[in-house]
Amino acid sequence: MWDERYADDEFAYGTEPNDFLAEHSGMLSGPVLSLAEGEGRNAVFLASLGLEVVGVDGSAVGLAKAQKLAALKGVSIQTTVVDLETYTPPANFFGAAVSISAHLPSQARKRLHRLVAQSIKPGGLIMLEGYSQAQINRNTGGPKDPDMLLTRADMEQEFPGFEVLLSREVEREVIEGKFHTGLASVVQFIGKRKEK
Ligand SMILES: C[S@@+](CC[C@H](N)C(=O)[O-])C[C@H]1O[C@@H](n2cnc3c(N)ncnc32)[C@H](O)[C@@H]1O
Repeated sequence: MWDERYADDEFAYGTEPNDFLAEHSGMLSGPVLSLAEGEGRNAVFLASLGLEVVGVDGSAVGLAKAQKLAALKGVSIQTTVVDLETYTPPANFFGAAVSISAHLPSQARKRLHRLVAQSIKPGGLIMLEGYSQAQINRNTGGPKDPDMLLTRADMEQEFPGFEVLLSREVEREVIEGKFHTGLASVVQFIGKRKEK
């Protein structure tokens, strides 16, 4: 389904970074693990800030477009095709992990977040935005399966060794290409891995 969505020449979510990520990007240190990177708009933006970025996604078509976008913008990003339901990132390796609209079935998401938490070095950040449970009644983007939508409480539970720097559910205009098209309910979460 994602390869099909990305088969178009057009960028499904545009080429500009996610607003929440852009607003808070000054807090990030590399290397950055970008989960469900898709067509590269966020990884390319982070690389343009001088950060080393590893983008992972299940769609080879999406990541090929990510590399094209990087070349177009004159930056370098690393990309790897992975299934996030089985992916294990290296432990204590990343300065930050970023997750933008990365929706998996809840059991798979919990497993992934446990491993992502371990892959962030002490002092490093998790920065996440995804559609909340309240998004189920809107037609402005996100999965139609409530099990794949987020709550603040889930994020706080799934990153237990992290100091919560920001955790909120907000309504905001998410306008990103033709699939994220307007007022949306999102969960935003930034946590810092505790030193011990
Ligand atoms: C809504 S798009 C968001 C893409 C990107 N984060 C952005 O903001 O532009 C969701 C992405 O999740 C990826 N994805 C969904 N399930 C996945 C899985 N099990 N393993 C790897 N990637 C997956 C899709 O390939 C797609 O690129």
